[in-house]
Amino acid sequence: MKSVAASTILGIGHYVPSKVVTNDDLAKLMSTSDEWIQQRTGIKERRYIEHSGIGASDLALPAVKMALEHAGLASEKDVDAIVFATLSPDHNFPGSGCFLGHKLGLPGVPALDVRNQCSGFLYGLSIADAWVRGGVYRHVLLVGAEVHSTGIELADRGRDVAVLFGDGAGAAIIGPATDPDQGLRSIKLHADGSGAKDLWLEAPASAYVPRLTKEMMDEGKHFPAMNGKQVFRWATEKMPEVSRAVLEEAKISAGDIDLFVPHQANLRINQLVCQKLGIPESKAVANIEKYGNTTAATIPLGLSEAWREGRCRRGSNVLMAAFGSGYTWGAAVLKL
Ligand code: UT7
Repeated sequence: MKSVAASTILGIGHYVPSKVVTNDDLAKLMSTSDEWIQQRTGIKERRYIEHSGIGASDLALPAVKMALEHAGLASEKDVDAIVFATLSPDHNFPGSGCFLGHKLGLPGVPALDVRNQCSGFLYGLSIADAWVRGGVYRHVLLVGAEVHSTGIELADRGRDVAVLFGDGAGAAIIGPATDPDQGLRSIKLHADGSGAKDLWLEAPASAYVPRLTKEMMDEGKHFPAMNGKQVFRWATEKMPEVSRAVLEEAKISAGDIDLFVPHQANLRINQLVCQKLGIPESKAVANIEKYGNTTAATIPLGLSEAWREGRCRRGSNVLMAAFGSGYTWGAAVLKL
């Protein structure tokens, strides 16, 4: 296949499960309050899967259908490759991309899982962009989907993490830009494992024999643990830094950004990031109050909603930025 000048987002979609869980609902399970959660994070409610048996690939399905329709593609058969970003795969292996490909009826289509937590969608975008520009695959289905509700500790011990996360999915079709003016202008990714244990899920672990014991479970090692203050500090430094770097490489000023889609981990983080970048908050997506943190899904979910609300259109300059567990972080700027 021939290489192309630039890749772009041809279509985008999202899906959240119907079960709404408010802060007051959580306050019945642990010592927390609506006031604490809203003040510290901006979250009012989040979505949880309705019942057992719904995995990340199931949440992805409706989002994929929406993205295909938005891209004007006739059917799933137009998908040439799948990149699935998630930290909560349906099962430990194989990857959720394989489950999704099967559900979409795509035998033989390659499926790659990306395990980069909150930055997963941007890592996936970088891969999709390279494949499309290199002429390897024409239409790459890029998914960010998470089911967190089955993996958090809904009790006092896990409250610092449990109140933050929700379930949801976003999907994008990445393909060749038709207009020479369009497409991804710059994308930059980073990682620093010195902070790996500041936000992690310790077990099951291939490094332990056995990988998971009753004792580990009693200690809660199968639930995510976070050093919130440290992650907050890094996020407010690295998201502006990498955003400035992509804007500079793309030769686009912050003032020319029509829509900013930051990862949704904490409203206060994003307010600080906007301030540091000189981007008015009115141009930034802020849906954390409805969905909490859906990690790899926040960016496609936010962009999909914003596009449908008319907050961006073809030709808009969009900046995306994320920071999360790893540490991993990144940013991308594109003209839709
Ligand atoms: O997407 C992945 C990246 N993640 C992030 O970017 C998250 C970054 N971190 C944060 O957003 C914030 O650190 C949090 C929202 C997680 C926490 O806010 P904070 O202002 O850093 O609170 P803290 O952890 O310092 O805790 C303050 C107090 C503590 O009590 P004491 O020690 O002051 O008595 C906590 O025990 O709040 C307590 N606390 C809670 N209280 C009610 C912690 N969690 C809760 C809770 N409800 N859910």
